[in-house]
Amino acid sequence: MPAEQTAVLVLDDDPIVLRSLSEFLRVEGYRVSPCQTLAEAMELLEKDQFHVALTDVRLPEGSGFDLLEHAKALSLSTAMIMLTGYGSIEDAVRAIKMGAFDYVTKPIADGEVKLSIERALQQRELLEENRRLRQQLNMTFHFENFICRDPKMKRALDMIRVVAGTDATVLITGESGTGKTLAARAIHANSPRTGKPFIEVSCGTLPDTLLESELFGHVKGAFSGAIVNKTGKFQAADEGTIFLDEISIASPSLQMKLLRVLEDFKFEPVGSNDTHEVNVRLILATNQDLSELVRQRNFREDLYYRINVMNIELPPLRTRPQDIPPLAHHFIEKYRHEAIHSVKGISDEAMRVLADYEWPGNVRELENVLQRAVVLCRTPYILPEDLPTNLASPVEPVLPDGKTLALKEAMRRWERHLILEGLKANGGNRKETAKCLGINRTTLYNKMREYGITEI
Ligand SMILES: Nc1ncnc2c1ncn2[C@@H]1O[C@H](COP(=O)(O)OP(=O)(O)OP(=O)(O)O)[C@@H](O)[C@H]1O
Ligand SMILES: [Mg+2]
Repeated sequence: MPAEQTAVLVLDDDPIVLRSLSEFLRVEGYRVSPCQTLAEAMELLEKDQFHVALTDVRLPEGSGFDLLEHAKALSLSTAMIMLTGYGSIEDAVRAIKMGAFDYVTKPIADGEVKLSIERALQQRELLEENRRLRQQLNMTFHFENFICRDPKMKRALDMIRVVAGTDATVLITGESGTGKTLAARAIHANSPRTGKPFIEVSCGTLPDTLLESELFGHVKGAFSGAIVNKTGKFQAADEGTIFLDEISIASPSLQMKLLRVLEDFKFEPVGSNDTHEVNVRLILATNQDLSELVRQRNFREDLYYRINVMNIELPPLRTRPQDIPPLAHHFIEKYRHEAIHSVKGISDEAMRVLADYEWPGNVRELENVLQRAVVLCRTPYILPEDLPTNLASPVEPVLPDGKTLALKEAMRRWERHLILEGLKANGGNRKETAKCLGINRTTLYNKMREYGITEI
């Protein structure tokens, strides 16, 4: 922070000390407010914002500690630096104990005061940065239907927002289920082309020849079965956006045609010599490493460079565990209406199971798991039992490499499972369950609370 933006309050009853200290700080470039009395200083602290306050400890109407108390009572973030008398170590100790930032012993050496102020400002900046980062960490970002907390994902969302405003070709990469289709829709919806067609074509679902005709159309008689003229998806997307999914599958001849469309927006329907021109924005997606396919000569290099102008990479869910809780809540909310019993949320235990899983199917798999759990769930909060057994089996806890923590966790799961089984076997009767488990009822209640078992 530049010195001139730093407000410093100085309190000393000795006019000579006050003047020389204030003068020195002014020369250093600080905005200085000198006060000769405690009352004056207290009033100023209430009225204005100070980054730092320097106060003498011994004052005729009280002490510098009164000012410190006052600042604390007002929850001010002002860093207090106490000017203690030479040799009065008690004052120094007391100052630090009471939460002063620092103390400087009198007679005051200017350099020492300056250093102390600089350190206070540095610490303030660190605290501020820390607070900002912490806030970011706990903040869930929403954009269109996207939800995320992870900074990598947040950057991808920022990029989606930025490219949406342009007409640039976008390549979205990411494993299956990471949100590529959702991203393509978000780009279109936030682009000037919104309201115009958004046409999705999955290149993987059609055989080669059909795909070309699907994209560019064909004329009657172009191939057997082409009994009428057909307009293609490119034509249908005119003025809007076309989204080509699984682009890595495109055949060499299709790749050629795509290159041409990308270069001059021109193409010929299959079996025709008529050239059509369209105004479309292209978004492509792939879960393959296109650069690797280029290296293997399975994908045209020139096409790759054409489409790889703006690359949005959606990270796998396992690399962004922070996103799991907000996504889980989002999906519970989304499918709540499908539940037979009313579902309020998810137990900590079940959330832990979600957090520990690898999610090879990414967000789509998480969504499916939660949809199923919401439907199956018979308690207000989703329990590990409502999750598919492949996520983590509570019945057969694996004991990984003898780690004590993992062992503890495995035992917890096992205990939880036994309690649930006991409750089920006894129709939910707590007294009977406690008896058959050989524990008293209070212990049973405590454990049920601990494991999030609320109803059975
Ligand atoms: N960050 C997110 N926030 C909310 N929902 C998400 C998020 N990411 C993905 N989803 C949801 O997860 C599901 C899968 O996403 P999507 O279909 O976009 O994945 P994909 O990458 O296109 O998968 P594929 O490669 O199989 O086509 C969708 O229902 C989508 O709405
Ligand atoms: Mg998709």
